[in-house]
Amino acid sequence: MIRSVVRGTGAALPRRIMKNADFEGMVETSDEWIAQRTGIRQRHIAADDETTASLGEAAARAALDNAGLTPDDIDLIVLATSTPNNTFPATAVDIQNRLGMHHGFAFDLQAVCSGFVYAVTTADLYIRGGLAKRVLVIGSETFSRILDWSDRSTCVLFGDGAGAMVLEAGEGTGSIADRGVLAASLRSDGTHKDKLFVDGGPSTTGTVGYLRMEGREVFKHAVGMITDVIEATFSAAGITAEDLDWFVPHQANKRIIDASAKKLGIAEQKVVVTVDLHGNTSAASVPLALSVAVADGRIKKGDLVLLEAMGGGFTWGAVLVRW
Ligand code: ACO
Repeated sequence: MIRSVVRGTGAALPRRIMKNADFEGMVETSDEWIAQRTGIRQRHIAADDETTASLGEAAARAALDNAGLTPDDIDLIVLATSTPNNTFPATAVDIQNRLGMHHGFAFDLQAVCSGFVYAVTTADLYIRGGLAKRVLVIGSETFSRILDWSDRSTCVLFGDGAGAMVLEAGEGTGSIADRGVLAASLRSDGTHKDKLFVDGGPSTTGTVGYLRMEGREVFKHAVGMITDVIEATFSAAGITAEDLDWFVPHQANKRIIDASAKKLGIAEQKVVVTVDLHGNTSAASVPLALSVAVADGRIKKGDLVLLEAMGGGFTWGAVLVRW
């Protein structure tokens, strides 16, 4: 059977680092409050010349280099983002053009923080359906552009960045010993749409809007939703938490990550955490964390890796990959 195998990963971050202490004086907060409640110590913030398209392009080039490929080898780009450069055309098509790629096709996918997990699942289906052989899956965000910088309950939580992965058609036997995407579970439920949303849009206000979140409410639902969808993924693959080599969760809050891992029985040393360095970069958070753990040698060929995310909508999901 066809399997979608990871061939390379890459990342890109804006030049400017903003530390927690840099918020003191802007809003009533402290390094201590932010670090204690979220685990975040710093985030990267895009300059005017750094956009979702430019960061996505840089991450894509890094992933192609890591894979030993060029844009000519790619036939589909799936970009997960909630902060596109323009309402349309899709930022994925802009990235396609920036890469000098004038064949194949490209589109954006919007599932907020779950975007990358949705995008990997989508790319896997295109590959297994025979519509694409090599796919660039990108998560790129500039959430700093949709933050209300006077709202301390949200502005301290998010950061900008991009991560990318090249998936390539390979051969498998259908067992969980295969390399590639092995199982996925996706969920959404719009009854929660007012708990985490942007208060503008082309069809309503005609403006871009700002992010609004009932943090406590999101927190309340997060652990249960995350653990449910992961248990569904484990049972689809016929594995348990013990079989995992690495857990790469969405990087929103260290307390949510710790509570989810504990409930699932995933050992602390198997959890990849980058929320301290990047903050919550929405659809970029999982591929940024992956890139860090691949680059430092933790994630190696043959490892069983679980990706998970939860975000606005609500949307949530998990993907199991043998590296
Ligand atoms: N600095 C200091 N105090 C603050 C700050 C701040 N930056 N922000 C809020 N506070 C205050 C609140 O006003 C509140 O004060 P009060 O008690 O006088 O009313 C107090 O701190 C406690 O606020 P809570 O919201 O109850 O704090 P909590 O412990 O829940 O932490 C947080 C807040 C970090 C937002 C947490 O709820 C959280 O992480 N929620 C989940 C967010 C998340 O995971 N999002 C994921 C999806 S993101 C996406 O999809 C785009």
